[in-house]
Amino acid sequence: IKRTPMVAGNWKMNGSRSLVESFSDTLNTHSFKEVDVVVCPPSGYLSFFVAETFDTGGQDLSAQDNGAHTGDMSGTMLTELGARYVIVGHSERRENHGESNELVADKALKALDNKLVPIICVGESLSIREQNKVNDFVGAQLAAVFDVLTTEQVSKCVIAYEPIWAIGTGKTASPEQAQEVHAFIRETLAGKEKSLAEKTRVLYGGSVKPDNAAQLFAQPDIDGGLIGGASLKTEDFIAICQAAI
Ligand code: G3H
Repeated sequence: IKRTPMVAGNWKMNGSRSLVESFSDTLNTHSFKEVDVVVCPPSGYLSFFVAETFDTGGQDLSAQDNGAHTGDMSGTMLTELGARYVIVGHSERRENHGESNELVADKALKALDNKLVPIICVGESLSIREQNKVNDFVGAQLAAVFDVLTTEQVSKCVIAYEPIWAIGTGKTASPEQAQEVHAFIRETLAGKEKSLAEKTRVLYGGSVKPDNAAQLFAQPDIDGGLIGGASLKTEDFIAICQAAI
């Protein structure tokens, strides 16, 4: 099975209405035929995108449908704003908002209920890596997802491996380090069902730039990237998308 590569940009709490407009204009002049391109801006900007050659996504969603949840955004609302994807379990949500593995799994399920493709983030801190516990840690993050989602539902998700020590630090994982964990993630998926491992896209995130993207994406188990800082620079982002083809 050939997996279509994917590059998703996570703007985090950055950008502006004018960046959305210039980004849309420039991206729409490129036809991304062999790579799925997604931009995840702050949710208030979603409706300003005119996305013809790419898709948009949210950065988080509530595990609830509606109600007294001040500041939260539901899956239905994201869909109405034009999103087709949503990031869940980014390490910044896990750290800054105390999101547990179980909550992240519930959010992934809620995304699927709303026909959004969840991009489920996993990844270890430096201290976990130094204790040689990467597989245990990432394995537990995935196990929580498998507890809530059926195999069929997992097959509709995208997984993003983002080592926390590589996020926004300029210290990217080496292609070998990244591949090692991606292979573990794929083995874990295969443990559930062989075809799941073959079908599911696993992205790498953490200081991906135009000059290191091709090497990372050339690894057999890396199907593209989740891009932070470099996704805010149109030319860099396009270069990274092209490196995934
Ligand atoms: O979601 C994206 C990641 O956190 C990577 O961010 O490319 O700025 O290191 P970065």
